[in-house]
Amino acid sequence: MYDYKNLIVDKLEKGICIVTFNRPKVLNVFNEDTLNEFSDVLDKIGNDKKIKVVVLLSACEKAFTAGADIKEMVKMDKEEGKCFSELGQSIARKIEKIPQPVIIGINGYALGGGVEFACACDIRIATDKSRFSQPEIDIGVIPGWGGTQRLSRIVGIAKAKEMIYTGMRIDAHEAFEIGLVNHIVPANKLKEAVLTLALTMASKGRKALFSAKKTINKLYESFIDEGLKFEVDKWTEIFGTHDRKEGMNAFLEGRHPKFKDK
Ligand code: CAA
Repeated sequence: MYDYKNLIVDKLEKGICIVTFNRPKVLNVFNEDTLNEFSDVLDKIGNDKKIKVVVLLSACEKAFTAGADIKEMVKMDKEEGKCFSELGQSIARKIEKIPQPVIIGINGYALGGGVEFACACDIRIATDKSRFSQPEIDIGVIPGWGGTQRLSRIVGIAKAKEMIYTGMRIDAHEAFEIGLVNHIVPANKLKEAVLTLALTMASKGRKALFSAKKTINKLYESFIDEGLKFEVDKWTEIFGTHDRKEGMNAFLEGRHPKFKDK
């Protein structure tokens, strides 16, 4: 039932389920196959009455993820780009909509879509080696998996704008200061720290735990979909530009992009 190519799913006792992203050789970049598997596992977890808390981890020492797969994106036309944005957005929404709280453990890089998925999780735990950024601007686009909507809510509009407009990278300490992560732990203690927290949460009553998630998310439930739709529209518009092609090609060719504002 939980058999995937790019994910490892471990159901532990006491209602904890660990999903580990397992494409270390490519820094866990999210290609379409991995996104489809992630989407599928969230559907199954959401319907699994035995699971009370979900944990996301990476099997890659260097990164939780380097974000969306630019090698795939560079070949996409506008319509395909739109579908790719909608797919990523729908997954972030599933993280929010499944009844179980989701804790993400981040070691190394969490870039682009990595921050976007992390922001949809309930609790984020980093290590002293974690690095975060929304680097889309450097490849000629904007965040397209909900980053324009969720990051601002978590760290405040000023910091989110600075991160998204500049692509700046921040370390775990700054991420903690701005409220992007709940805790920082040593890299070799990440799994232990995340599981300790998961166990504490799993020891509570299911109904109260699930209601707490649903009720807190209600804070922005009524307008998140409108913001996400606007993001897809803007992303799709930008996907048709010269600068998007130039930005993605420049990254893959290891050079600085030459943006022409068109
Ligand atoms: N997609 C595809 N390939 C990627 C990638 C990505 N997102 N990130 C890294 N890679 C590839 C590199 O092209 C390189 O491939 P080759 O070995 O074939 O040359 C390999 O992974 C290793 O990368 P680097 O040589 O760059 O390794 P590094 O240690 O010097 O740097 C890094 C690592 C800091 C993660 C750097 O690769 C990087 O900055 N990646 C950023 C990618 C990025 O911009 N991600 C955001 C994408 S857009 C998105 O996620 C949001 C969305 O809303 C859809």
